[in-house]
Amino acid sequence: MKVSVKNVDITKIKCDLLVVNEFEGVKTPGGATGAVDRALNGLISKLSRAKEISGKLNTATLIHTQGRIPAEHVLVVGLGKSSEFGLDEVRSASAKAIDAAKRIKAKKVVTIIHGAGIGGLSPFESCRAVAESSLITDYRFKGYKTDKKDDDEGKIEELIIAEKDAKKIKDFERAAGLAQVLSRAVNNTRDLVNEPSNKMTPSEFALIAKKVAKENGIKCLVLGKKEITHEKMGAFLAIEKGSEEEGKLIVLRYKGAGPKEKTIALVGKGITFDSGGISLKPPRKMHEMKGDMAGAASVLYVMEAAAELKIKKNLLAVIPLTENMPSGGALKPGDVVTSMSGKTIEIISTDAEGRMILADAITYAKKLGAEKIIDIATLTGACIVALGDVASGILGNDQTFVEKMISAGARSGEKLWQLPLYKEYREYLKSSIADIKNASDLGKAGTSSGGTFIKEFVGDTPWAHIDIAGTADLDRQVNHYKKGPTGSGVFSIINYLLNY
Ligand code: BES
Ligand code: ZN
Ligand code: ZN
Repeated sequence: MKVSVKNVDITKIKCDLLVVNEFEGVKTPGGATGAVDRALNGLISKLSRAKEISGKLNTATLIHTQGRIPAEHVLVVGLGKSSEFGLDEVRSASAKAIDAAKRIKAKKVVTIIHGAGIGGLSPFESCRAVAESSLITDYRFKGYKTDKKDDDEGKIEELIIAEKDAKKIKDFERAAGLAQVLSRAVNNTRDLVNEPSNKMTPSEFALIAKKVAKENGIKCLVLGKKEITHEKMGAFLAIEKGSEEEGKLIVLRYKGAGPKEKTIALVGKGITFDSGGISLKPPRKMHEMKGDMAGAASVLYVMEAAAELKIKKNLLAVIPLTENMPSGGALKPGDVVTSMSGKTIEIISTDAEGRMILADAITYAKKLGAEKIIDIATLTGACIVALGDVASGILGNDQTFVEKMISAGARSGEKLWQLPLYKEYREYLKSSIADIKNASDLGKAGTSSGGTFIKEFVGDTPWAHIDIAGTADLDRQVNHYKKGPTGSGVFSIINYLLNY
């Protein structure tokens, strides 16, 4: 779906579907919807009086225009109560419109910007919300079905944002352009997470990363088992050795600022399949663990977006990739391994593998000059218990940094909720034979324990850790995200890097 902005009168534009809106309780619509109403001889007001159009949020009424205007259909989406209106409502209304457009197989869709200028919303923000939500809603994974017949929805070719005030066009074009880059990063992330683990192996991921890097002028280095061994990444290798697939560690560099500017490192958990290892997971939901590389995928596409947007920051990405498998050569509970940092780790659970590979990836990022670190990982089931599929967890050692990330997420509707890193949690990880345990056997504060483990390897470098276990891959629809991978965290990190 291509998104463009046009300076046109919506009553005169030819399209398959024209999207307008209405607040709850309005009997005679104003603005753009009012103009369409008049062109349709008052049909929208008539339907509103008859309560066929309610204006309630998450409702949409489809009207056949019967040749009264060039648009074949008009869709009136509800915006809810004007007193409760905000960007979340803009996003749900846009999502509703895209769903309807696909249902009627519309190819050319024209929309107005919901709420531009209303209730303190800036036209720019509203436009970004409409475009982002539309692109997120339009996403489908290609998949591996050989019979494409059971897919009976249409493909939207073009979404045109129509605005008759020429003064707003430049702003809208900028917003739509930004939305397209960000949404593509999110949707590309969803694609990788959707891929099964027999296709999305560490080697395959590395090939994709090389291609993405090459196309965007990003420096890319892929370390294989030999180089990883040479770097003495004992924590990473402890997980990797149980698998037949060779582990990889990808390093990407993008320089958008001068040499005096700080290097921000992005580190993403890339477990292409998490069986739990010898601490084997129960079978019921094990297939979902092909998505345990969501953090890795999001880091790759954040880097691409940063290059596309020419973000003025120096970025370093470190992406550790491996399967976590049980085998005769696999890591065992009770084992002690030496991480790249020199710290020794006693293994309590081989299923706490994410923090192991992150520990070495972070140590390596610091060696390569990281002065600020963001890590993103499907790290703990406990985060799902705490926050469900609604919010990601965020933890860190620098409160200002954490708060900036939280507000960056909010700009695109991503919720990040901070969980603590109280020093007392360190006691959960106290080992009698090594420097630290990789998990506690207490079953308490799982997300904070995971964060506490990672913090040990971060040291004093400003750091934020995003736990996307509950949000990266949904088992039901949440807002404008359909069941399945979401690309969660991508919007937050790019917005942060944009100082947005
Ligand atoms: N990949 C899982 C976390 C996870 C669970 C992500 C469900 C998405 C959905 C992680 O590697 C894991 O298994 N964590 C353990 C840690 C525990 C052994 C300390 C967990 O959360 O149970
Ligand atoms: Zn695990
Ligand atoms: Zn995992």
